[in-house]
Amino acid sequence: MTERIVVERATKRYGEMTVFQTLDLSVREGETVCILGPSGCGKTTLLRSMHGLIPLDDGRIVIDGAAVTSPRRNVAMVFQHFGLMPWKRVSENIAYGITLAGLPSAVCAERVRKYTEMVGLTGFERSYPYQLSGGMQQRVGLARALAMEPDVLLMDEPFGALDAQTREILQDELLHIHTLVPHTMVFITHSIEEAIALGDRVVVMSSRPARVREILAVGIPRPRTVASVIAHPRFIELRDRCWRLLREKAA
Ligand SMILES: Nc1ncnc2c1ncn2[C@@H]1O[C@H](COP(=O)(O)OP(=O)(O)OP(=O)(O)O)[C@@H](O)[C@H]1O
Ligand SMILES: [Mg+2]
Repeated sequence: MTERIVVERATKRYGEMTVFQTLDLSVREGETVCILGPSGCGKTTLLRSMHGLIPLDDGRIVIDGAAVTSPRRNVAMVFQHFGLMPWKRVSENIAYGITLAGLPSAVCAERVRKYTEMVGLTGFERSYPYQLSGGMQQRVGLARALAMEPDVLLMDEPFGALDAQTREILQDELLHIHTLVPHTMVFITHSIEEAIALGDRVVVMSSRPARVREILAVGIPRPRTVASVIAHPRFIELRDRCWRLLREKAA
């Protein structure tokens, strides 16, 4: 399998503080890698570095064979706090990235229609974010990223602020979308269940300076739903392993 994202001996410091040091990680084509780790260990920093928003102090991140130095059109990010523009309507928020990328307006309109439908927001195109529930706002954030038709999706705890029920619905929808459009995905979460449900592999990080403690191959066949993953015999074993790794103090 080809590697789409390769993190090579990546080091990031803020002043005296080392966020991560000589970190190595790779993500294969079409694979979902979920990252678990203690709060403040550097997950968002790593994801933003992959997006080309934060320069590294040492090492490099390679996507499709070229070192990342600035954001690329084929890499899209979904943020924890939705990152919507409150003064723009749903359709304008979804169109934001592709309009900025200079796609012809007919192409933009068709993509907005397609991805609004894919995330189940048809009928809400003219609403403003404040008129939507949290789950609907995050659907807008997801549609905006999907509309870029990226090869790589970077997700920073996208469902972290949602209630458990809405969260499971969106997890199932993301699993379904992955069957339609198999993006390569890096998904950060604090939920062990979510990491196992969505991931082909789960990376457990240590506290700062972040290291990769362990990489677990999930090995639960697709197509999946959250319910089918939780019912799978491997689930409990994987969950317990993640718990143990997260609980143990980093040596
Ligand atoms: N721009 C910045 N300047 C200085 N320090 C920063 C900056 N951004 C992040 N940090 C620090 O880097 C460390 C890692 O932050 P980061 O946001 O990557 O953690 P995280 O793993 O995403 O945490 P959480 O799980 O709480 O989201 C933290 O100690 C944070 O205070
Ligand atoms: Mg974070």
